[in-house]
Amino acid sequence: MMVKRKILKSLNQVPGDYREEEELASQAGITTNEVRDVIQSMGDDGFVIESSDRGYRILEIPNRLLPYQIQVDLETNYIGHDIQHFSEVDSTNQVAKELAEKGAPEGTIIIAEVQRRGRGRRGKRWLSPEGGVWMTILLRPDIPPAKAPLLTLVTGVAVARTLQTECGLDVGIKWPNDILIGDKKVCGILTEAEADRGKLDYVVVGIGIDLNVDLKEFPPELKDGATSLQHELQREIYGVEVVQKFLINFEELYEKFKDGQFPEILSEWRRLSKTVGRYVEVHKKGHIVYGEAVGITKDGILVLELDDGTLRKVISGECIHLPRNH
Ligand code: BTN
Repeated sequence: MMVKRKILKSLNQVPGDYREEEELASQAGITTNEVRDVIQSMGDDGFVIESSDRGYRILEIPNRLLPYQIQVDLETNYIGHDIQHFSEVDSTNQVAKELAEKGAPEGTIIIAEVQRRGRGRRGKRWLSPEGGVWMTILLRPDIPPAKAPLLTLVTGVAVARTLQTECGLDVGIKWPNDILIGDKKVCGILTEAEADRGKLDYVVVGIGIDLNVDLKEFPPELKDGATSLQHELQREIYGVEVVQKFLINFEELYEKFKDGQFPEILSEWRRLSKTVGRYVEVHKKGHIVYGEAVGITKDGILVLELDDGTLRKVISGECIHLPRNH
């Protein structure tokens, strides 16, 4: 993997330019025979590489999220330094938990091209066909278990920042963790924590971004509320850049979080929130609460003003933004 990353880096140095076989070999510290094997294997991965007597050059890059593609020039200190990639898996959160149990380090990432049984919040399924970013980050923060859900808000800010700066879109957050473009959902986050005798063992943060997924394949009940980046920008989005930028944003915010600077992150979350100020319907276990969302507490709890004027804190639930003319 390391070798592929080096070869890709060398081939990328001057895009569209040829690199001689000997040069690639010496830059990667391998033989020319091995270079040929690597080039062939990159071809199997979907790269189109021209080989001539002037050397090799890349003609086409596959829009995939292979570890060596993400790790070339990845400017993080530890997030994403270990990436486990699968073409198909039940759920990356599930794989992350299994790896966590075996002692995988903080910052390990699990990515799948397709999930057979992607999980959403509240036991729902998460549709995960080709074209999306289905990814889980394994974390081992030294925090009380009760604080683990805050990582959902931290991650939401990291995704929103990334989509805003990378794509210049009107990105917002619906409490607690849906990333919206306009009023349509483009990303969901599922945080699951494992504690042992009151001590947090690990947290897995699953992120699903509808990058280039085909919305036509979504069932009718999801179609109206969902969008993809490709649909919003009317062009295919190159996933590697989005993931790299996200990982940098995530690491920066996660470091702040561990350093006790959650209030700053929450301020950014509040600015991004599309829920505060809206009249909402929140589905709790077995009942529904209506009210105007008037704020988010410092612990990420939603505060509703009910119709009779009383304030109600909502820790979790499914939130629906009701029309403004309610
Ligand atoms: C939601 O909004 O309901 C949360 C959706 C989370 C989906 C992601 S995709 C990667 C990771 N693996 C899963 O099975 N789920 C999360």
